[in-house]
Amino acid sequence: MDLKGKDILTAAQFSREDIEHLFAIADDFSARLQKGERLRRLDGKLLATVFYEPSTRTRLSFESAMQRLGGGVVSVAEAKTASSVAKGETLADTVRTIENYADAIVLRHSEVGAAQAAADAASVPILNAGDGAGEHPTQALLDLYTIRAQKGRIDGLRVALVGDLKNGRTVHSLARALSQFKVDFSFVAPAALAMPAEVSDYMRARDFAVEETNDLARTLTKADVVYMTRVQKERFADPKQYDKLKNFYILNRDLVSRAKDNLLVMHPLPRVDEITTDVDSLPNAAYFRQARNGVFIRMALLAEILGG
Ligand code: NCD
Repeated sequence: MDLKGKDILTAAQFSREDIEHLFAIADDFSARLQKGERLRRLDGKLLATVFYEPSTRTRLSFESAMQRLGGGVVSVAEAKTASSVAKGETLADTVRTIENYADAIVLRHSEVGAAQAAADAASVPILNAGDGAGEHPTQALLDLYTIRAQKGRIDGLRVALVGDLKNGRTVHSLARALSQFKVDFSFVAPAALAMPAEVSDYMRARDFAVEETNDLARTLTKADVVYMTRVQKERFADPKQYDKLKNFYILNRDLVSRAKDNLLVMHPLPRVDEITTDVDSLPNAAYFRQARNGVFIRMALLAEILGG
């Protein structure tokens, strides 16, 4: 698929070929940056980053990616309070304004479907940087890129998605993106945080063997990749329910030592208590490498969407 001028709304829009093409571009950019080359591919282009929810990695890595390609950035980091949204402006009016100031808009919003709604209103590409508990497609691309970099392949692996599968947009997108490869899935969650039927059904309709369990220790004896997630506090109406579930899974050094050899430990970050810090120094820990890879994958995406 030619990505020029396209919106990025869901991980389901990418074919295997698209994903591999983006990996090749990301590899090239990464190698050229390593050599200290100065890239000019998006010279004269401007990217707007508009975030209605907190972010460290997604916003800054998009901005870094754009600037590494010679482009510029305009940014609203706290759109809820620092933009005219606080005066009652609608999302549609906001994007119809910002499109006059930038060639593409990276949007994070608290409502499922917000990126689609913005894309319907906008004439410039919208990149979904998280729509509530919906999706986070660019995170899925950097997750796949990290798996490929660390494991040398994606096909043939068993991937365990762990934690708040109900509210976690990263796992909703990652499961969809992984369905372009030949993987086995373990969805590991307490019943109250199980993967939405929409995602599980999507996998089964594509003939994937999906194991749903709440037993992390047993899953780790066969998983090649474990993707831990934060229990999404901001999606809970009842704080007592959050307190009950927040520490349901904690991955520590002891659990990793009893897992399959070379287990790859991933997390989109931010981490709260799901992975103890004694895991960080193990070669298995890939979460800060994920954060780094976010720049290369977002460079590849921006170059494809905005490049000449
Ligand atoms: C995630 C998100 O915002 O969905 N963070 C990220 O973009 N790396 C994960 C989370 O907040 O738990």
